[in-house]
Amino acid sequence: MSNKSMSKLRVLTGITTTGTPHLGNYVGAIRPAIEASHDVNVVPYYFLADYHALIKCQDPERVRRSSLEIAATWLALGLDTDNAIFYRQSDIPEIMELTWILTCVTAKGLMNRAHAYKAAVAENEDGGAKDPDKGVMMGLFSYPILMAADILMFNAHKVPVGQDQIQHLEMARDIAGRFNYIFGEHFVLPDVVIGENTAILAGLDGRKMSKSYDNTIPLFLPEKKFRKLINKIKTNSLEPGEPKDPDTCTLFGVYRAFASDRELDAIRQRYAEGIGWGEMKSLLFGYLNDHLAEPRGRYNELMKTPEFIEAKLSQGAQKAREHCAPLMKRVREAVGISSMAG
Ligand code: TRP
Repeated sequence: MSNKSMSKLRVLTGITTTGTPHLGNYVGAIRPAIEASHDVNVVPYYFLADYHALIKCQDPERVRRSSLEIAATWLALGLDTDNAIFYRQSDIPEIMELTWILTCVTAKGLMNRAHAYKAAVAENEDGGAKDPDKGVMMGLFSYPILMAADILMFNAHKVPVGQDQIQHLEMARDIAGRFNYIFGEHFVLPDVVIGENTAILAGLDGRKMSKSYDNTIPLFLPEKKFRKLINKIKTNSLEPGEPKDPDTCTLFGVYRAFASDRELDAIRQRYAEGIGWGEMKSLLFGYLNDHLAEPRGRYNELMKTPEFIEAKLSQGAQKAREHCAPLMKRVREAVGISSMAG
């Protein structure tokens, strides 16, 4: 790696490959990440976290499909793959090697405190299960270590994630600190970045748009289905002509995530004048559809040419491995795993 790129800020984030990208993912994570991918002062590392998918999903077709959809989505939206390093976790065997090495310096007690594991135990206890660990796989238990390896493998400085991942970043710092203490300074302690200005979208039922609530609007649905889902967004029962409050309205919230301030003012005015829900839905659909039609076309093309996506990902993996192979070599040596012949 050149000295120049070595001195740049490294920003890294992973996307678990279990679902289809939706509007909430787009405004909360994908859009800001793609914007950041054009910043030449930064080296962004974005990857498909497919080994993470196995923790919660034992449906191979879904993992495969999701990996393809996520990769196609990011490429269709204009990810700058010259600047960003875009790869699939499973293409980087060094990450798995590092995971084991880190597992050996991670206290079990630290993992006992992880939210996902604690939630599983709490559910068992509430359900009166005899074994609090019932149904808990080691993958779920130790997944913060895999995530630490994802991050530390590239000595990332900044890691943009959602609120629910803050604890994992603290754990990654803990693990890095412990390794450095025992074996010498090899790892950067990563900082979490929580997108304060990124929008959180409400979904069809008004709760946060999320796969787990089954209230999402997939980003690149065919136009007809897209219109249907927009029409399904829940509103209150005010009639056309009655003034409405945009700030508590899911339709307005979605509009806001895309529109300029001027456009928003105009819509606020329409709410005050009592725009009907039917009209607002059709306006929102038209607006989003204009916005998404072009990348949707590219997405559909990409989905038909998986070999192109595969080639992009393997280029990314090659670049990524150039960065991580030297670090991995040092780490192996540091722990005493190296050639006997010197
Ligand atoms: N666990 C993260 C999530 O569910 C995804 C992820 C995996 C990740 N590895 C990562 C995010 C490394 C940031 C850095 O959202």
